[in-house]
Amino acid sequence: MADFEHVFQSPPEGAAADWTISQNWRAYTQVEHDTWDTLYARQMEILPGRASDAFLKGLSALDLNTGGIPDFALMNPKLKALTGWTVVCVPGLVPDEVFFDHLANRRFPSGQFIRRPDQLDYLQEPDIFHDVFGHVPMLTDPDFADYMQAYGKGGQRAQSLGMLKNLARLYWYTVEFGLIDQGDGLRIYGAGIVSSASESVFAVEDPSPNRIAFDLERIMRTDYRIDDFQQVYFVIPSIEALNDATLEDFGPIYDRLKGQSDIGITAIQPYDRVITRGTQTYADKGGR
Ligand code: PHE
Ligand code: FE
Repeated sequence: MADFEHVFQSPPEGAAADWTISQNWRAYTQVEHDTWDTLYARQMEILPGRASDAFLKGLSALDLNTGGIPDFALMNPKLKALTGWTVVCVPGLVPDEVFFDHLANRRFPSGQFIRRPDQLDYLQEPDIFHDVFGHVPMLTDPDFADYMQAYGKGGQRAQSLGMLKNLARLYWYTVEFGLIDQGDGLRIYGAGIVSSASESVFAVEDPSPNRIAFDLERIMRTDYRIDDFQQVYFVIPSIEALNDATLEDFGPIYDRLKGQSDIGITAIQPYDRVITRGTQTYADKGGR
């Protein structure tokens, strides 16, 4: 996926003005369908008891295990009936404003391609397994569905205020790498975790990472890493609480953030509510 490090500034040939392309489901090869099935089966060995109820419920409601890569023409009516969201195909990473516009209109942009069989474990850029298996189940949850749309609108605003770097951290530590305290234990709802076999175990069980209670402003100051397992996860008490915390006007928060320094990945602040203090053994040993 190194070829996706390049983000185009105008839609590539064959894409619409909003950067969407046809899924062209019939063009997927048997090898590609088999890759989906392999990844799906592997995650289902791992996720019960680790993924959140909201994720698992959404996954079963969407019926994404009928053999091979889901056909959006069949998946979208189910999703739309539940929360009004649809999934659209894009060629790869899209510019921020394109991404936000889709979210603000309850469209989730998914990559069209699937990883190669020799890339099952690690991929730097989102493929259709990450985007659909990882993200779409949570979009069936009414509160999360609202959160994602609000994020799209908030992204447009943050961009105009020059605060995207801070807002992107909120996406990272919730939508991609969020944990939830379900009452019966810590569970995963972040797409970056649920779509990764190794991080699904690491995020909830490994003694290495810090796990800290969700704190909006603190998250927006916290760096993140994109090259390996996270060294800190933030834990929400419920999706409703996440929604409530982010409904407030971020204007005053952005003003405060401008005068504050960033917080390092492993730093613990005096005011943090620490759920598990990590040993950082995994990262200290060199990680991946
Ligand atoms: N409330 C935010 C704002 O005023 C918008 C937002 C909502 C951002 C939800 C992220 C998630 O900018
Ligand atoms: Fe993602």
